[in-house]
Amino acid sequence: MAESVAVSDRGDTTASRSRSVCSALWQAALNPAAVVAIVEVQKGSAMALPTDYRIRLMQPTDYAAISEICREVYPHDTPYTAAELAEHQAVYPQGQFVAEHVPSRQPVGVHFTLRLRMADFHIDDAWDVLTAHGTFADHDASGHTLYGADVFVSPHHQHHGLAHALTDATRGLVVEEQLWRMVGGSRLPGYAAVAGVLPADEYVREVVEGSRTDPVLSAHLKDGWQVVKPIHGYLQHDIESGNWAAVIQWVNPACPPPPELQLR
Ligand SMILES: CC(C)(COP(=O)(O)OP(=O)(O)OC[C@H]1O[C@@H](n2cnc3c(N)ncnc32)[C@H](O)[C@@H]1OP(=O)(O)O)[C@@H](O)C(=O)NCCC(=O)NCCS
Repeated sequence: MAESVAVSDRGDTTASRSRSVCSALWQAALNPAAVVAIVEVQKGSAMALPTDYRIRLMQPTDYAAISEICREVYPHDTPYTAAELAEHQAVYPQGQFVAEHVPSRQPVGVHFTLRLRMADFHIDDAWDVLTAHGTFADHDASGHTLYGADVFVSPHHQHHGLAHALTDATRGLVVEEQLWRMVGGSRLPGYAAVAGVLPADEYVREVVEGSRTDPVLSAHLKDGWQVVKPIHGYLQHDIESGNWAAVIQWVNPACPPPPELQLR
């Protein structure tokens, strides 16, 4: 199991607590009746969620609805298939989060993650490279970085704090598995419209300063991520972003960089 490799490096009782929390999450995902406990387990999520929603792990019964949401939010991309979602779940079950609309029992948002050793990659690697072409087959159970491969929320349920709550859940996983940090690539869907007159780094700086709003990066910044640098070619068909994105990260204050990556 991924979590046992990660925590056993540090040993002790935290390791068993971490294992039992992740195991509890996974068990709850398999048992919808137990799903309500998940928000309490994942520190930080409960406060951000309106009462009609809960955060839980993905289940096979979610696959069709998730594909449909994907089709809506990424009209220029091929939506995840059930087989791909099952692959993600098989590779790293405790890293696949869903926001559920409780009255309809439907998933309305997701945050998909995997663990990577970022030293194996380059900072401007594309999404295809970081996810092994969307399979998550490059998930490394000993990786120190949780890579946020995707987060999206149904347009009918946006602006309810769901991305924020989903990000809190992934942050909770970083803490529970004692990882160094979380890294992601933020689309910049406001950028293509001004790309002719504004370099990408200036655009990102203005969004960070708050003098400009980007529909995605502004949300990520409010959700606690920090910008590392803008990169080109992260996604291949992201017309609105001119294929630009910002590498973003959240560093776990409780976990210093692994010894081999300390500055010398
Ligand atoms: C980006 C996305 C996930 C945000 O989801 P969401 O559930 O609406 O976001 P939240 O409600 O948690 O918003 C978090 C914060 O960002 C702000 N925010 C949300 N959407 C915003 C927007 N379009 N412009 C500016 N700020 C925005 C919110 O006001 C909130 O701040 P607050 O706490 O001060 O209220 C959603 O818009 C989406 O699915 N977009 C399409 C898919 C996509 O591009 N995903 C990102 C891949 S990198």
